[in-house]
Amino acid sequence: MSADPRPLTAPDLLALKASGRRIVMLTCYDATFAQLLQELDVDVLLVGDSLNQVVAGQDTTLSATLEQMIYHASAVRRGAPRALLFVDLPFLTYQVSIPEAIHNAGRVLQQSGANGVKLEGGRHMAETVAALVERGIPVIGHLGLTPQSVHALGGYRVQGRAPDAADRLLADAQALERAGACAIVLELLPAAIARRISAELTIPTIGIGAGPGCDGQVLVLYDMLGLNEMFNPRFLKRFADLGETVRAAVSGFAKEVREGRYPGPEHSFE
Ligand code: KIV
Repeated sequence: MSADPRPLTAPDLLALKASGRRIVMLTCYDATFAQLLQELDVDVLLVGDSLNQVVAGQDTTLSATLEQMIYHASAVRRGAPRALLFVDLPFLTYQVSIPEAIHNAGRVLQQSGANGVKLEGGRHMAETVAALVERGIPVIGHLGLTPQSVHALGGYRVQGRAPDAADRLLADAQALERAGACAIVLELLPAAIARRISAELTIPTIGIGAGPGCDGQVLVLYDMLGLNEMFNPRFLKRFADLGETVRAAVSGFAKEVREGRYPGPEHSFE
């Protein structure tokens, strides 16, 4: 949480971009981590549907449900009551119709206490974004590698390589901005494209694998902490090696239990 005693709100994201301060976003799925992240200088917590992969062990985000997102977002909200909290709308909860999108996004805010939702897609989602924003639901867009379209995109690969891709992505980003999105996540894009989009928009871009030209950065918490050791994309920097820490801790516990050294008298009751 920032030193500012007033919690950050969705409209503040625009001011952060205008002031030139880079936005720090991390995914978060539970109350324990949420409490830690709220104490630190994290601007936005995202309950990403990546939880379907890193928490539930699925191959894609596609089978995440609204109920799961609300469950995890409620836990994060309890751990971090003051955090600016966004929640991914899962696959098929916003693409079918605008009334369904409003109903489902409204449920997320109402039942979890989140501040807003994130959804994937560009121009074809602009009308939906506008409908949500008009009803008081802040929206973050998501362009580039949009994981809910993994099958259509042919895998988790860098987007924006086609000759006209930069122009199409810029048009998508501008449509989301006009629709009232308060920020846009840019995932797995060449740095030059992400920089150009960021320069053309007044709302902030938040990059993941999109280079340093974005207005902020987001990473999946478990990945940047080194808990997801099988996941080694080029863009990922591990800021800790918790996998190794967990291994050492669990081995230490097992050893002391087997040797009869834990619990000692100091951990026991008379
Ligand atoms: O689901 C997620 O965690 C995300 C982030 C990677 C931006 O969408």
